[in-house]
Amino acid sequence: MTAGDLDRLVEIAEGLEQAPHWPRLAYEAVLDPASPRRIALVAESLGVLFGFAMARLTPPQAELETIAVTAEFQRRGVARKLFTDLADELRLADVHEILLEVRASNHPARAFYRSLGFAAAGQRPRYYADPVEDAVLMRLGLRPPGRVGLEG
Ligand SMILES: CC(C)(COP(=O)(O)OP(=O)(O)OC[C@H]1O[C@@H](n2cnc3c(N)ncnc32)[C@H](O)[C@@H]1OP(=O)(O)O)[C@@H](O)C(=O)NCCC(=O)NCCS
Repeated sequence: MTAGDLDRLVEIAEGLEQAPHWPRLAYEAVLDPASPRRIALVAESLGVLFGFAMARLTPPQAELETIAVTAEFQRRGVARKLFTDLADELRLADVHEILLEVRASNHPARAFYRSLGFAAAGQRPRYYADPVEDAVLMRLGLRPPGRVGLEG
C-alpha cells in the first residue's frame, strides 16, 4: 500500500457497508513511519485496485484490522489470496497468532474467517456503535516460517 492508493482505499471501504469506514487521515497515519507497525497489502490488476488488507503488528500477535474486496470482485478468492500473502509476511515478522473483531451480524466475513481456520475466541458486548452491536473475537495460530499450513 502506498500514498497513491489512499483515495481508492477510502472509496472501496465507503462502498462496502460492512467495511470499517476510516477517514482518509487515519490511512495517511498508517503510512507515517512513526505509527505502530503494520503490514498493508492491496489487490490490483491492470492498474485497478479492488481489495486490500491491513494488520497491526505486536509480535507474537497481530490484529487483522481490515480486509475488503469490492462487490464485483467478491467470491473469486481475492481476499483469501490477500490473507495468505499477509500471513506469509506476518510469519516472517515473528507473529504466531492473529486476532480480530468482527460484527456479530457480518455473516459473510465470519464465514470467510472460518474458511481460513479462524475460530471464535469470545464476544465483546456492545463493542460497535452506529448501530450498536456485539463484536465476535476470532483467533488463528500461525506456524513459524518453513512449516506448511496453518495451526488452530
Ligand atoms: C469478507 C470479504 C473480504 C471476503 O472477500 P472475498 O474476496 O469475496 O472472499 P474469497 O472469495 O476469498 O472467499 C474465500 C472463502 O470465504 C468464504 N466466504 C467468502 N465470502 C462469503 C460469503 N459471502 N458467504 C459465505 N462464505 C463466504 C467461502 O468459504 C469462500 O470460499 P468459496 O468461494 O470457495 O466458497 C468480502 O465479502 C468483503 O469485502 N466484505 C465487506 C467488508 C467486510 O465485511 N470485511 C470484513 C470486516 S473488516
